[in-house]
Amino acid sequence: MEENSVFHGFKNIYVTIFALFFFFKLLIKIFLALLTHFYIVKGNRKEAARISEEIYGGISESWADRSLLHEAASQGRLLALKTLIAQGINVNLVTINRVSSLHEACLGGHVACAKVLLEHGAHVNGTTVHGVTPLFNACCSGSPACVNLLLEFGAKPQLDDHLASPIHEAVKRGHKECMEILLANNVNIDQEAPQHGTPLYVACSYQRTDCVKKLLELGASVDQGKWLDTPLHAAARQSSAEVIDLLADYGASLRLLNHQGKCALDLATPQSSVEQALLLREGPSSLAQLCRLCIRKCLGRSCHYAIYQLCLPEPLEKFLLYQ
Ligand SMILES: *[C@@H]1O[C@H](CO)[C@@H](O)[C@H](O)[C@H]1NC(C)=O
Repeated sequence: MEENSVFHGFKNIYVTIFALFFFFKLLIKIFLALLTHFYIVKGNRKEAARISEEIYGGISESWADRSLLHEAASQGRLLALKTLIAQGINVNLVTINRVSSLHEACLGGHVACAKVLLEHGAHVNGTTVHGVTPLFNACCSGSPACVNLLLEFGAKPQLDDHLASPIHEAVKRGHKECMEILLANNVNIDQEAPQHGTPLYVACSYQRTDCVKKLLELGASVDQGKWLDTPLHAAARQSSAEVIDLLADYGASLRLLNHQGKCALDLATPQSSVEQALLLREGPSSLAQLCRLCIRKCLGRSCHYAIYQLCLPEPLEKFLLYQ
């Protein structure tokens, strides 16, 4: 009789422990759900939405159907992400625009989250309706760690359709290291995307001097740009004389005409340092033009000594007559 009641006592203790255990587990789940909700509402949703709009186009659809996993991935919350996966959420859930959680993790540069997602079977080559891959997003955020991780997991380094080319995105944003990793993985250095031109052309358009330098060092074709527009044309429209000098040092042709029949010099802002750099490279034929520019500058008391010296072979009086 007494033995029986002891047995019942033990049984009750076990039941109580189990009940408490499940109760706590439930509490933790509710707490996590609340926390996640708090993050969605209070987190930097505006900023994330802005980036999302830039990358994916319209925001309304792509934001309406994001899962908690998307939220956790985009904010780099590893613990929440692991919890959701442990709870059995599908890592390959996508929004209407086919944005996956891996896309989000890479856009935020959250390598630890991206790794967990990949280890749980996230599609490394998944593309959104806008042709964006996780690798593209990693290049957008400028995360060499994410780029390396994705390549390790077999990501396609170069896309067939050129809508969202990872290397062009890396160059556009000046992420030189990401660019170098892609080039080391057999991405064509002269890949000409219809909308963007070659990587060198993009680097010149956005004045990413470091990228220009590296691309030229690695053997990019100096005159290949966007159809008839050469990288030099792109550089001439900008304000960096350094980019002009780099291109000229690597033998860029100064006289090539673009589809508007213009050479690079025609595109440079008059009396800018870019125009001077181009004139300096043109040699004797444009020396007279350079001297006129030089004299105008000298009269304006901003004469550059090097340019002034270049004028010396020609009699200054001759040019003063032009003024
Ligand atoms: C991703 O695409 C590349 C190139 O098509 C392919 O070699 C690779 O196997 C794909 N990776 C996965 C995990 O499907």
